[in-house]
Amino acid sequence: MKASMVACIQCDPREEPLPTARGQWQGTMREAFLLGREHLRAEGVDSPEVEAEVLLRYAIAWDRLFPGTSPLSSSHHRGVVEPIPRSSLYARWESSLSWQTWKTYVDLLEERTQGRPLAYIIGRREFMGLDFLVDERVLIPRPETEVLVERLLRELAPLPHPLVVDVGTGSGAIAIALAVYHDGARVVATDLSGPALEVARENACKHGVSTRVAFLRGDLLDPLEALGFQGQVDAIATNPPYVPSGLIPHLPASIRCYEPLPALDGGEDGLEYIRRIVQQSPRFLRPGGLLAIEVMAGQADAVQELIERTGFFQQVESVMDLAGIPRVVVGWATAPGSGSS
Ligand SMILES: C[S@@+](CC[C@H](N)C(=O)[O-])C[C@H]1O[C@@H](n2cnc3c(N)ncnc32)[C@H](O)[C@@H]1O
Repeated sequence: MKASMVACIQCDPREEPLPTARGQWQGTMREAFLLGREHLRAEGVDSPEVEAEVLLRYAIAWDRLFPGTSPLSSSHHRGVVEPIPRSSLYARWESSLSWQTWKTYVDLLEERTQGRPLAYIIGRREFMGLDFLVDERVLIPRPETEVLVERLLRELAPLPHPLVVDVGTGSGAIAIALAVYHDGARVVATDLSGPALEVARENACKHGVSTRVAFLRGDLLDPLEALGFQGQVDAIATNPPYVPSGLIPHLPASIRCYEPLPALDGGEDGLEYIRRIVQQSPRFLRPGGLLAIEVMAGQADAVQELIERTGFFQQVESVMDLAGIPRVVVGWATAPGSGSS
């Protein structure tokens, strides 16, 4: 099933809407937080406490920077607005909230209860302790992917200037985190999506690594051909689209209706892109170079077998995530690639 055909039915909030007419509500930060939290809870949002607080801190910051405007009609500014620190919120916990800020907060709460992920509403997500700009052009980076980055950083630590490739970079999370935490790393990041690469480039600038991360538009490892990197690459990392097409309609609406489907849909068995990356990698890895692939729960054995079957890798193993699920498959190349192109 093609991702674009998946139906997205938005739900109307079940609860009574929060008051938004001028003068209908007056209260303190604490009271606003409690009302917001209960509203999110009643609408089935998973972490109502955390999300109500973040949205309130964001609403306050928004109104300081763009008074009298609504974040809903100004998506352009979203990423530049940083929620006020928690300590500032608690310092003013018993002060009253202005009507304008309350209205902004209610708008944000309503958007969240419609199913839009918090990261897209506030335009940012933390990954590896770094603040990434995100919007609907890119997949929201997930904590599982930190397992991949941490393992790579460990393997690459002894090399002064490793050459690394991130296939399907999205927001640039993997490529940029590697460049930030290994200050000698040079990274080439590819993606088929031009809009995703715009976000990734912005993130690279934000984190001061633009000179060491090159973003190239193209299909998987194809952009490397022209660079003459055959047999030169120290590590290939990827978190490719891996959800089997048949499972896409069963994903939570917050993912299915908002995140870019080409970032999720891995073809009939979920392994379409992984198979191609495994086939292309031996051509670019140097002897002893590392291939590291994030997989969905339940895919690790099949991916290990795919890698072993190429005959190019001397050792292949799976790395567990914090829940004990094999999440990343790693393999070390034995010989320079003369594999299929
Ligand atoms: C699961 S997302 C991963 C994004 C990011 N690396 C992360 O971990 O948050 C997969 C990415 O692969 C990209 N992609 C899909 N098909 C591709 C292809 N044929 N060649 C290159 N990138 C592709 C998507 O645009 C998306 O950004």
